[in-house]
Order: sequence, then C-alpha cells, then structure tokens
Amino acid sequence: VSTAARARPANRVDFDQPPNAIAVRRAELTSQGVELTDLTDTNPTRHGLFDPQILTVVGRHLGQAGRYEPSPGGPWPARAALAERYGGDPDDYWLTASTSEAYGWLFALLANPGEAVAIPSPGYPLIEPLASLHSLDVRPYRTFYVHPSGWELDRTVLAETLSDKRIRAVVAVNPNNPTGAYAEPAIVEEAAARGLPVIADEVFWPFQVVPLPVAPSRLSGGDATLTFGLDGLSKLLAAPQLKLGWIRLSGPPADKAWAARCLDQIADTYLSVNTPVALALPDLLGLADSAIARVTARLRSNLTTARQSFGDLRIRTTYGGWMLLLDIPPVMEPDDLVIALMDRAGLYVHPGYFYDLPDATLAISLLPEPPVFAEACRRLAAALAVFAGDRRTGGSQSWS
Ligand SMILES: Cc1ncc(COP(=O)(O)O)c(C=O)c1O
Repeated sequence: VSTAARARPANRVDFDQPPNAIAVRRAELTSQGVELTDLTDTNPTRHGLFDPQILTVVGRHLGQAGRYEPSPGGPWPARAALAERYGGDPDDYWLTASTSEAYGWLFALLANPGEAVAIPSPGYPLIEPLASLHSLDVRPYRTFYVHPSGWELDRTVLAETLSDKRIRAVVAVNPNNPTGAYAEPAIVEEAAARGLPVIADEVFWPFQVVPLPVAPSRLSGGDATLTFGLDGLSKLLAAPQLKLGWIRLSGPPADKAWAARCLDQIADTYLSVNTPVALALPDLLGLADSAIARVTARLRSNLTTARQSFGDLRIRTTYGGWMLLLDIPPVMEPDDLVIALMDRAGLYVHPGYFYDLPDATLAISLLPEPPVFAEACRRLAAALAVFAGDRRTGGSQSWS
C-alpha cells in the first residue's frame, strides 16, 4: 500500500475528482493560445478597479512592520478602526487572511466532523468545499425566484431544513452571490429559535446596484443569537491580493464570551494575518467609500448595458453584488452550451448548475471594463440567437 493511499482517509474530501468537460475544453483552448473573454471573472484587479493608492498606503506602514508583535485578534488599532466603522467594540473583531479562511475557523469552532451547516441555495459554490475540508456536510436551504420582485425565502422550507439535528450553524450570504438578493431577517429568527449560530457573510453588502423596495438589514452585529459577521478587503477595497478579512462577533453575552475565547485560540494557532496590511487597515478603510463608489458605478453601468443587449432574454432581478443571472432558451445541454460559446463565440460563462441554478440560467460577472462587457454581451446575444436557430433547423451554422 502506497503512502498516499494510506494517508487518504475514506469519505472525506475528494481531491481526485476529474476536471469536468468545460474545464478540459477551456484548458485545451488556452494551450492553443485561444483567448476567451471571461465573463465569469470577478477579480477586480483584472478590470481596472484596483486603486494604486492602496499600495502607497500599505507602503507607508512598512517601516512599522519590522518588528513582529503577534496578537490573535490582530493589532489593536486595526480592530478599533473596524469598530469605529461598523459598530461594536474593538474586542468583537478578529482579523483573518480572508473571508474564506474565516469560514474555516468558524466551521472548526461550531461543528464536529459528520455534522452539518445550512447554506443558501442557489449560492456561492466555495462554501461546500470549505465545509468539506472540515469533514462537514452542507444542507442547502432554497430560495425561490419570483419575477420581477426577485428571490424569496420560503420560511417553511428553511424551518424544515433546520429541523435536521446535525445542523450546527446557518450561513446567510447578504446579499447572496450570485442571486443578488439581500438576506431576509427570518433566517436569523429561525436560527435563534433553535439556538443555532449565524455566519453572516456580508462581503457584498455595500454594493447595492438597484434600490430596494424595503431597506435591507445587516445581519452582522445582531444579538438575537450568536452571530459571526464576515467581511474583508477583497470586496470592500476591490483588493483580494491584500489578504485581509475579519470576523465580527455578536450575540448573547455568555455565548459571546465562550466564542471569543475559542476564536482567540484558533487565531493564535494560525497567526495568519500579515503585519503590514493589518497595520495599514485604519488608513485603508479611509479608501473604502471611494472603492465602493467606483465598483458600484461599474456594476450599474454594466447592468444597463446587459438590459440593452439581451432584448427578450430575462435578466433575473438583482439588488446587490457583482453577478448577473441571465435566463436563456434551453438550446442545448449546459456543458455543450458553455463549450459551444467558447468554441464559436470566444466567450467563457458559467452554467447555472455551478451555483445550484436551473440549467438554462447563465451567471455572468458585472465587473469587466464597459467596452469589453458590451462587446461580450453583443456576442453572447448573437450566439444564443444562432444556437436557437440551429435548434429549429437542426443545422449548425458557423458564427463569428
Ligand atoms: C459570498 C462570498 N464570500 C466570500 C468570498 C471570498 O472572499 P475572500 O477573498 O475574502 O476569501 C467570496 C468571493 O468571491 C464570495 O463571493
């Protein structure tokens, strides 16, 4: 028996999954030097949205970073700056290297292997693998789309999901990625009624693209139940490479004191946050509002372009976040469609099933530079019209 086989525990993470047909074709095209317009890319630094001043601000703090003073929650001025911006006490905040890392810490804190966390569906696909790294299962709670008002939580469905005794925490993504729906307070009420903690991922909170009929509420900072608010510079400053996120703890005092002790231990075990960026955080937060304005203007402008480009195709109602959902005619199987769009239109899009959405829904990033986005939308609309024509005539026209 090889070492690798002995080291590989059964029923845990499947690290050997073969790439799907879409990934295989994409890799082939890339190796042939074919350039695809990536309509899935939400890395803001590739779309002219990174403010170089951020590096100047970090640079100003390098001199202070020559000495390492480890502290589990992060340097005090950084935590104080977060409390000033978002509320609560500096002691309520722990810095992490990213929101994804924060999920990992919380999964380690709140659940034992074999237990589960409730997650929104459709939703952000990374939560399930993050849970799986901690040997946890996920239990999706569905939200349902109603046109044109948007995504709605069915409280009965949520209550049914949460009745599973193996669930140890409820994740709410506010607004959700990729649906763009702000979370309903019922999530917290149902969690609190069962004594379940809430992990409130609010990385997209400030990116409100469309005014809401009812003002949304933040879930982080709430005290109905133990609540872990997640946020970070990856979205707030459009600067994922800074690797800085944070957890805000709130809730009933006794639970909070227990969770604070545990978070201190977890944070102290990793000490993963880099000193220069942590020291720069108070000044970096001073750049947040301009970053939010810059990114939100981009999202709004691209949403308008999409509305103009896709004619009769239904753009699902979104309120916040960086993605757009487009319903298309069921012209072919989702993998075939995505591959045909790469081969025949030079476009890369995500099929809905990546996010637990119906097959004939595509998920598109709203971040690309406006001329690139407009051209990509034009090609996508034209390609879909050709594919629909092929389907009617049984042929396969070439398209360029
Ligand atoms: C809903 C949601 N949460 C968290 C993250 C990850 O953020 P970070 O870069 O801080 O790990 C993302 C990234 O796209 C996201 O969409």
